[in-house]
Amino acid sequence: MIVAITNQKGGVGKTTTAINLAAALAMKGLHTLLVDLDPQANSSMSFVDVHALERSVYDALVDPAVAFEDVIVPADKTQSLAVAPANIALAKLEAKLLGELDGHFRLKDNLETVKDRYDYVVIDTPPTLGLITVNALVAASHVIIPIQSSYFALEGTDDLLETIDKVKARAHPALQILGAVITLYDKRTLLAQDIQNEIRKVFGNKIFKTVISKSVRLEESPAYRESIFTFAPRSSGAYEYYKLSEEVLSRV
Ligand SMILES: Nc1ncnc2c1ncn2[C@@H]1O[C@H](COP(=O)(O)OP(=O)(O)OP(=O)(O)O)[C@@H](O)[C@H]1O
Ligand SMILES: [Mg+2]
Repeated sequence: MIVAITNQKGGVGKTTTAINLAAALAMKGLHTLLVDLDPQANSSMSFVDVHALERSVYDALVDPAVAFEDVIVPADKTQSLAVAPANIALAKLEAKLLGELDGHFRLKDNLETVKDRYDYVVIDTPPTLGLITVNALVAASHVIIPIQSSYFALEGTDDLLETIDKVKARAHPALQILGAVITLYDKRTLLAQDIQNEIRKVFGNKIFKTVISKSVRLEESPAYRESIFTFAPRSSGAYEYYKLSEEVLSRV
């Protein structure tokens, strides 16, 4: 399974979900590759020292002389997890691939060369619906959509679903939405229940049962280059992301 974690809204928990889902799968002994397609490189930084790296995904995507396997590095503190890191150069990708006939397929073609080595591939995407995110959707077998539990949570969802439909229609009919996960949930607010009901109206049974609560530990762990499972194994975040990984596995 290759799963893209996608939502063009910023700060909804894409990266937090990508890193901790990847870590949960790796913790089960499944060989997992985390591909970072966000020029901000937040998920790369959560597992490796990005300043020590010479190459990133960008190099493999634009330069046929750079093999995808040569940009992959092991995660520092998480066994069975490897990272294809991003860097700021990815911000140039869209301009670089403009007008290239295979522009939408670069990640798919690159992943093709390594995917047999991994049980699962998790792709973190930037908060846009541009060519980078389309590359992720074309390469993925499934999409997970993190939805922040907030009043404007569903704004922009139409555009996201339309983009997914376009990719299905023109490039990749088998692409499936695996589910939507409610993130940054705060049970103390009255609004939270209303919001959940609204989200349910749009996504119905695609909503994962597991809801990710607000947790300071989830915010802190990347700074220590750890997943929530080593940083705070007894926290609500560790429990919830573990439950989410079980649900993900049960749906594929
Ligand atoms: N469940 C949570 N509890 C507390 N803080 C969280 C939680 N999930 C995410 N955060 C924090 O909220 C911020 C945004 O989360 P994250 O980076 O995962 O979102 P994103 O969708 O990847 O953002 P971007 O669109 O910029 O890539 C980060 O500071 C992160 O640590
Ligand atoms: Mg992010």
